[in-house]
Amino acid sequence: MIEKIEALLSEIKQLTVSAPEEIETARIKYLSKKGSISSLMDDFRTVPAEQKREVGMRLNELKQKATEKIELLKKQFENSGAANSDIDLSRTAYPIPLGTRHPLSIVKEEICDIFKRLGFSIAEGPEVEDDWHVFSSLNFADDHPARDMQDTFFIQSDPQIVLRTHTSSVQTRVMEKSDPPIRIICPGRVYRNEAISYRAHCFFHQVEALYIDKDVSFADLKQALLFFAREMFGEQTKIRLRPSYFPFTEPSAEMDISCNICGGKGCPFCKHTGWVEILGCGMVDPNVLENCGIDSKIYSGYALGMGIERITNLKYQVKDLRMFSENDVRFLEQFQSAH
Ligand code: DAH
Repeated sequence: MIEKIEALLSEIKQLTVSAPEEIETARIKYLSKKGSISSLMDDFRTVPAEQKREVGMRLNELKQKATEKIELLKKQFENSGAANSDIDLSRTAYPIPLGTRHPLSIVKEEICDIFKRLGFSIAEGPEVEDDWHVFSSLNFADDHPARDMQDTFFIQSDPQIVLRTHTSSVQTRVMEKSDPPIRIICPGRVYRNEAISYRAHCFFHQVEALYIDKDVSFADLKQALLFFAREMFGEQTKIRLRPSYFPFTEPSAEMDISCNICGGKGCPFCKHTGWVEILGCGMVDPNVLENCGIDSKIYSGYALGMGIERITNLKYQVKDLRMFSENDVRFLEQFQSAH
């Protein structure tokens, strides 16, 4: 008898439940008229007289402990709603912390907005591209050293599939599919096989612009560039075009703006020159137009491409490129008021 009481006592001590219904089941099992404690009470009659006192005390203790345990379990469920679930309903939902837009997205949208005001519309293309769209259609000859300007990640050879090294590939995609006039702006991520450091990453972001129509001239390009520079960096901004080389434009140029950190006086950021380079541009090479099925005797156009990280650095002076992809909330939160 004592053994049975002990066994039941330890069973009740260890009792846990995961739903309120189980508490009632336990109560019936131990404390109802047909429950195990009641049936022990019935057996009490057969206990020898000299043991009655001790067994009686133990039995009472057992009944009391069982009743207390059932009450305790009931209380647990009343207090927390779901005591054994890991959802803490007592936590407040307010204030809900709002995320911030990524600095690169803020700047990308600013660039796109400026060009949209000039009548450009957004076009996008795939990041995994074929050789034709990234290189060959853009007048990079198969063995031309210009291909070395961009260290490429190859996904597959023969036919060659690569991660696009620039957004210029979107130019071809659009020109192949549509007739001029074409006025597009193409933002997107690009990849290059570079060692990661504070000033280079294996992926970054660009915005490409392309304008094809009858009688488009270098003067149109220059005017669009000046408009962009002033809208982006302020009315006082000056631009400077330096001759350069890109296989897909002829003539080609690189554009500098007057350093917006020192105002052109010279500082460490502009290496004391007063100018910082921000983009490449030029008149679309007639070969590129022909490659894409556009008659270069009727149409001409300009193209330009810029790195979003570079423009963002100029606006916000982020010294380490890696911060853009580390997802450190302390960095990202600083752009809360920027949009
Ligand atoms: N695709 C070039 C690069 O990634 C940038 C560029 C230069 C784009 C000149 C253009 C352009 O559209 O006309 O270095």
